[in-house]
Amino acid sequence: MSDQNTGSTMSTGAPAPSDRNSLTVGADGPILLHDVHFLEQMAHFNREKVPERQPHAKGSGAFGVFRTTEDVSAYTKAALFQKGATTDMLARFSTVAGEAGSPDTWRDVRGFSLKFYTDEGNYDLVGNNTPVFFIRDTMKFPHFIRSQKRLPDCGLRDNHMQWDFWTSNPESAHQVTYLMGERGLPMTWRNMNGYGSHTYMWINAAGERFWVKYHFHTQQGLAHLSNAEAARTSGEDADFHRRDLFEAIRRGDYPRWVLSVQVMPYEDAKTYRINPFDLTKTWPHADYPLIKVGVMTLNRNPENFFAQIEQAAFSPGNTVPGIGLSPDKMLLGRAFAYNDAQRNRIGVNFHQLPVNRPKVPVNTYMFDGHMTYHHSGNAPVYAPNSGGRSWADETGPVADGWEADGAMVRSAYTLRAGDDDFSQAGTLVRDVFNEAQREQLVETVAGSLLGGVREPVLGRAFEYWKSIDADVGRRIEAKVRAGAAPQPAEGMGEA
Ligand code: HEM
Repeated sequence: MSDQNTGSTMSTGAPAPSDRNSLTVGADGPILLHDVHFLEQMAHFNREKVPERQPHAKGSGAFGVFRTTEDVSAYTKAALFQKGATTDMLARFSTVAGEAGSPDTWRDVRGFSLKFYTDEGNYDLVGNNTPVFFIRDTMKFPHFIRSQKRLPDCGLRDNHMQWDFWTSNPESAHQVTYLMGERGLPMTWRNMNGYGSHTYMWINAAGERFWVKYHFHTQQGLAHLSNAEAARTSGEDADFHRRDLFEAIRRGDYPRWVLSVQVMPYEDAKTYRINPFDLTKTWPHADYPLIKVGVMTLNRNPENFFAQIEQAAFSPGNTVPGIGLSPDKMLLGRAFAYNDAQRNRIGVNFHQLPVNRPKVPVNTYMFDGHMTYHHSGNAPVYAPNSGGRSWADETGPVADGWEADGAMVRSAYTLRAGDDDFSQAGTLVRDVFNEAQREQLVETVAGSLLGGVREPVLGRAFEYWKSIDADVGRRIEAKVRAGAAPQPAEGMGEA
């Protein structure tokens, strides 16, 4: 809704007296307390910010459409993934650690959030531009994010703190290798892939279950910034990625991504040599090849950044029939975290806002609270009821469930033959990166370690990289030792 062509009014709709002059006693006199228009303006202004997202604060997005071009009904009955279905959607891209005003081109993982307004309710896929993550237990997430943010005393970001966390949690090796490689500096959001990262469940019409991983491949081509280009761009245009996406869509150059999935038969998961629910691992394509699903096109810019991007609320817990979660402990933790963050960040009725509201009718027994404006009149407020208002009554095994048994424990995942922290990172460095990319990786890691990382973290970092790849580890150590400031001579240290 836009009222920019009508006369200025107060929030009541009554004409505004003036947007220029406050009400005073004489031209030079004091302001009067009954200048309601001024008081309302000021009071609203004082409240017009909401807390930024805890991680992924800086970002932007656009609306678009997802078209399913292939028949994947053997794997899922989800309406949006039936051949020929066209579903309106919203995408938001982001950095993880920077605050809302931070540069788009700081080295970081990029968020890749999608909301599909399907015929069966909203489906959200909240992923990244990398297929893995730094940790595999949800308990570690707040610690991980704090280690990437700011020091408690000076409020500065700190490489020492980042490497302290990563080297103390060696399961981070695979994702840190992605982060220190080209993926950490995408040229634009249009030039990066997106991944669901986690393993999700798909369920077909016959009730058969499959495990899937989502891959969105950019049709603009992968492209990256060098460290020098990123540093320069961070200073010259902190909003470089936001601007690029907005301008591309404005000129009709609509970015597209092809969605493919890897599908693992349900029973395979029990015996596969890698724990398929471990978020630090990929599934080799030789075992589970990509199966094409459809195409996502972003073709409409937001009309209002705050209403449609800042207030957008994505959650991996928002699934639809035919799609489920999985035993990935990270994913299960996320199923709680997002809606709770949004209750705090936006308000308890965040799901009623136009950008978050499904296009299908909502018949929920969640009532009232701040700013309720979608209500069900005088319909019964309890279930079950005899007032004709429907209520759900699923019983027995759930369609999107899995078997779990055993005592309650606090424990790492049970290790399988192929489960170790370093080998997939090593494969990435040796078999996927070429020599130029390896050299760039060595430069980047050494540069980061030279940015204030001290013992004993520094020594741990060398071992961490040697465990990923002995040669790359040695090269990083040599570069750091060559570039390190000479230690003060004995007796000439700080007084
Ligand atoms: C246990 C692990 C995790 C927890 C507890 C967690 C929690 C959060 C929270 C609280 C937010 C802010 C939500 C908001 O205010 O709207 C957020 C944002 C986000 N997270 Fe996570 N996160 C986790 C792991 C991940 C992983 C593994 C990925 C990617 C694969 C991811 C991708 C994102 C993205 C893309 C956003 C931005 C959403 C948006 O665009 O609005 N997170 N996360």
